[in-house]
Amino acid sequence: MDTRIVRIYEDHPNPPEMADLGIIIKDGGLVAFPTETVYGLGGDALNPESSKKIYAAKGRPSDNPLIVHIANLSNLDALTEEIPESAKKLADAFWPGPLTMILKKSASVPKETTGGLDTVAVRFPSHKVAQELIKAGGGYIAAPSANLSGKPSPTLAKYVLEDLNGRVDAIIDGGDIPIGLESTIVDLTGDVPMILRPGYITKEMLESVLGTISTDPTILDGNSKERPKAPGMRYRHYAPKGELTVVEGDSEAVIAYINRAVSNAREADKKTGVIATSGTADFYSADVVKKIGNREVPEEVAASLYRILREMDDENVEVIYSESFADDGLGAAIMNRLLKAAGHRKISV
Ligand code: TXA
Ligand code: MG
Repeated sequence: MDTRIVRIYEDHPNPPEMADLGIIIKDGGLVAFPTETVYGLGGDALNPESSKKIYAAKGRPSDNPLIVHIANLSNLDALTEEIPESAKKLADAFWPGPLTMILKKSASVPKETTGGLDTVAVRFPSHKVAQELIKAGGGYIAAPSANLSGKPSPTLAKYVLEDLNGRVDAIIDGGDIPIGLESTIVDLTGDVPMILRPGYITKEMLESVLGTISTDPTILDGNSKERPKAPGMRYRHYAPKGELTVVEGDSEAVIAYINRAVSNAREADKKTGVIATSGTADFYSADVVKKIGNREVPEEVAASLYRILREMDDENVEVIYSESFADDGLGAAIMNRLLKAAGHRKISV
């Protein structure tokens, strides 16, 4: 399949080509597109054949459900039998934006889209290009992150192209992605709302609207034997090819430990990499040292993480050490993704 590449930025989100891209979706085709979190791989959420194609294009197990993206609050009605009060409040506070809600699904949502579940994940993204594509495509776009299964979610169009060229009908290059980590997922189908995946909308932000919120215990404990409630959280995700270890402790001790470990790895002829912060990068002696941003500004760290994991692969780094980050607020999402990428290899010094 020839993949058409179209550049559309947020300052001019609805050029004439958008109508054609919408027709691709309506005809059962696939279009990758930018959102404020990561790039998505979109197809018609109400067409079971489109969802099957999404799974095939990503190489994703078909029991891992897709998020349905809408661009108009009234389109929520068709996806669920009844909208709980909690969902109305969260929509009011955080939509459009990087929040996904799990609700009981209506009969219009095919099981192929929800991985066989009787619940549906819904998100109203704030990215203008995403909104225009959803509207042009009929109002309901199922979209996982636009990476091959097991790779970091793409935050740059070049990585979408690398993973999906020839596997989708079109890719919209929308430039840089502002947030860089996938949306927060909150399950509203139980007695107490539960965070299934941490993201830019933090627990504190959700609690300010709904009161007490619980967190899926498997997010907090990497060795938990429980099954995560979001099926996708149980797959090994975001894995770079190199072996990644997270090192936590006082800055000086972390630097000393990593430099020793790097020098051992180099003696064993391994190409080494370090994920450092703007304040510490100069102190490392690895083959590749990447600045992830200022550790006091978690938004910078979030926005760079997936790009850096991809760059470590591009540069064939075999052994990677990363500094650790505070795990409150947005840090909860950063550490969740970083530790998953590391297969939960963490050392305290
Ligand atoms: O920011 C995002 O959410 C991005 C952009 C493209 O919007 N999308 C995204 O989709 O991250 P994906 O497919 O990579 O991750 C969706 C996660 C998976 O872990 C999946 O298991 C979970 O959402 N999920 C989807 N529907 C669910 C449901 N009904 N119940 C529980 N978890 C669900
Ligand atoms: Mg994903």
